[in-house]
Amino acid sequence: MQDLIESARQAQKLAYAPYSQYFVGAAILTNSGKVFRGSNIENASYGATICAERAAITNMIMGGERDIRALAVVTEDCGFPCGICLQTINEFTSDPNLCEIVVPSKSGFQIRTLQELAPYLWRSELVKKTK
Ligand code: THU
Repeated sequence: MQDLIESARQAQKLAYAPYSQYFVGAAILTNSGKVFRGSNIENASYGATICAERAAITNMIMGGERDIRALAVVTEDCGFPCGICLQTINEFTSDPNLCEIVVPSKSGFQIRTLQELAPYLWRSELVKKTK
């Protein structure tokens, strides 16, 4: 997990955050063992900002992968992903109970499963049409 945090730290250096000056980096480990990174990308129209986690997910999808095993996120205050990002992570993991979200801490890192962080996310079954 320390390696994944290091990848997220590298991604944080590429963050484009001229408005908030809050730099975020994320790194995803997929179930097949590949790593994809992302940073936050802000916009003068603030609502157009994309978080680091969702930027990493976009890279993962373009890399042909769809199953998140773990996601590390590095911020200046070691925060966990926001609600929109948790919802997006949920879209691309086969098991929220196994999907680990990792953030650095003073003693190394903290890990929570997606299920622990967000037990009541909107599930795709709710909107999948059946015939
Ligand atoms: N941000 C992220 O990149 N990830 C999160 O989970 C929450 C917030 C970014 C968005 C914005 O560029 C900055 O942090 C301040 O909110």
